[in-house]
Amino acid sequence: MEKQGYDYLEPIEVVPGVYWIGLYDEKAAFHCNPYLLVDNGEAVIFDPGSVGFYPKVASKIFSIIEPAQVSYIVLHHQDPDLCACTPLLEDVIANKELKIVTHSRAQLLIRYYDIKSEFYPVDRHNYALTLKSGRVLRFMKTPHCHFPASIVTYDEKQKLLFSSDIFGAVSADWRLFAQKGYEEQMKSFHEGYMANKPHLANVMEKLAKLDLEMILPQHGSIIKKELIPACVEFLKDLKCGIDLQASDEELYGWIPS
Ligand SMILES: [Fe+2]
Ligand SMILES: [Fe+2]
Repeated sequence: MEKQGYDYLEPIEVVPGVYWIGLYDEKAAFHCNPYLLVDNGEAVIFDPGSVGFYPKVASKIFSIIEPAQVSYIVLHHQDPDLCACTPLLEDVIANKELKIVTHSRAQLLIRYYDIKSEFYPVDRHNYALTLKSGRVLRFMKTPHCHFPASIVTYDEKQKLLFSSDIFGAVSADWRLFAQKGYEEQMKSFHEGYMANKPHLANVMEKLAKLDLEMILPQHGSIIKKELIPACVEFLKDLKCGIDLQASDEELYGWIPS
């Protein structure tokens, strides 16, 4: 299954050691993007996905690494589209050192997926995680975008932002990498998912200060450096959530048919 030159049945290395391990469905407007980071043989999985995703996502992960190499699964918030397959992954990884990285407020809910591993609550670790190589992953609070204790991950080494739902999009014309005009694809998703303009603008102001090479969202398309400033500016100014209450379409943005 190839589109735009990529074989979506295989993991796609988007920068050295970082892989898109999602599923492409040409009939779907809404895509989920789990990612795998491999650093000196140590692996981190970001937002692995649903139970239905599990067989394909797991086969992609374990075509690259051995289960024991996974040290961390990062869950940026509690939603099932990113968390639900975690217990299945835990069974295969069977690494007593495996930790689930999230915010302690999200941990309260995530434990109901029957997580067995120890949690690594970022708010009790100075919002940082140091891998065995010394590489530092930093976590930033993105309050109410869309969960009260949502976080995103910033990889200092490669200047990557794993942004979870923020910078996500819905589009019948899904592409792995965002094209010019991606702002319009982000619009209805943010209108429907984010709390309101002040919260989203607050997050954008913080993210605009980061030195970024690439944004890797959990939905929509990966955003390369040249398109990042326009996307940040667009979301900084976007009315969303309770700013838009005239109709269900306005309040919720995109509604599945
Ligand atoms: Fe979410
Ligand atoms: Fe999501």
